[in-house]
Amino acid sequence: MSEMKAFDFQAWSHQQLALIEQSLDLWVPHEIGGSLGSSMRYAALGGGKRLRPLLCLAARHSMRLLGEVGHESPCLDQAALRAACACELIHSYSLVHDDMPCMDDDVLRRGQPTVHVKFGQAMALLCGDSLQALAFEILTPSESLVPSRVQALLCKLLSQAAGHAGMAGGQAVDLQSVGVVLTQAQLQAMHAMKTGALLQASVMMGASCSHEGALSESLQTSLLTYANALGLAFQVVDDILDVVSDTQTLGKTVGKDAAHDKPTFVSLLGLDGAQAHAQTLHQQAHEALLATGLKDVRALGALADLVIKRKS
Ligand code: IPE
Ligand code: IPE
Ligand code: MG
Ligand code: MG
Ligand code: MG
Repeated sequence: MSEMKAFDFQAWSHQQLALIEQSLDLWVPHEIGGSLGSSMRYAALGGGKRLRPLLCLAARHSMRLLGEVGHESPCLDQAALRAACACELIHSYSLVHDDMPCMDDDVLRRGQPTVHVKFGQAMALLCGDSLQALAFEILTPSESLVPSRVQALLCKLLSQAAGHAGMAGGQAVDLQSVGVVLTQAQLQAMHAMKTGALLQASVMMGASCSHEGALSESLQTSLLTYANALGLAFQVVDDILDVVSDTQTLGKTVGKDAAHDKPTFVSLLGLDGAQAHAQTLHQQAHEALLATGLKDVRALGALADLVIKRKS
């Protein structure tokens, strides 16, 4: 593709991250209900890799060249930015609840005390609830900013990914699997729900911010395959890092999975087996990207690489 300029992923992600941080800072309220606002800002603005918003914006980037006419772009860019931040808010809420004593009972997140340690359990519960509600509020601005057909589609994709058939459902399986030996298929299904669903939604929501809204069946299939493989690889690497990394690098307590007797890819396949599995999934993600037939999937490809190479 000689007409395409070289792609500088560092520069692209730097620019997108600035936009994401700026938007979250604007949309997450300051002071509401005593420390509720502070706890929401603490949870949502306290760092993190911002992988979900980056995936969303990368998917939007890959769709930009498809049949868009001039005046549509600002609305679709606005929709994608809102979708990106909404995914991150759901993710932030899931971490606040995941760390609570009734779940993983973690005291450290992103190198800081967890929300319930700092604000108390009741506030952590409400903080998560409010971040989840805020995600949908952000997705539904006035019609002049984002067309209502796009708003409805984004709400549908995100609610499905966050709820019983996605993240929350996967978290329920996770809790019920303590001390249980799962088969690879069961473990894969759990990971696909608790982590994969939101990563997949991030990609599909970004891609849905496009001219047609509804994607062709073949494009949808390839993107879903890419996101599936990436989502699984992400959680496999999370399982590996829990064993091989250290608390300082990771910003969260290591060794928690084994301590809680959680079934993970490392407990099932061993460290080498889990690493090999992550590589296979990485390859599958790249193959699926090629199969999309989209002209510019370089940002999505670079994010798949990042998922495998990450150290935190
Ligand atoms: C951690 O997610 C929780 C999992 C789903 C495994 P991330 O590793 O994306 O967390 P942050 O946002 O970068 O802290
Ligand atoms: C968390 O999985 C998944 C969600 C929050 C949905 P983990 O429990 O493995 O995440 P960490 O390791 O605490 O970040
Ligand atoms: Mg957990
Ligand atoms: Mg956890
Ligand atoms: Mg983990």
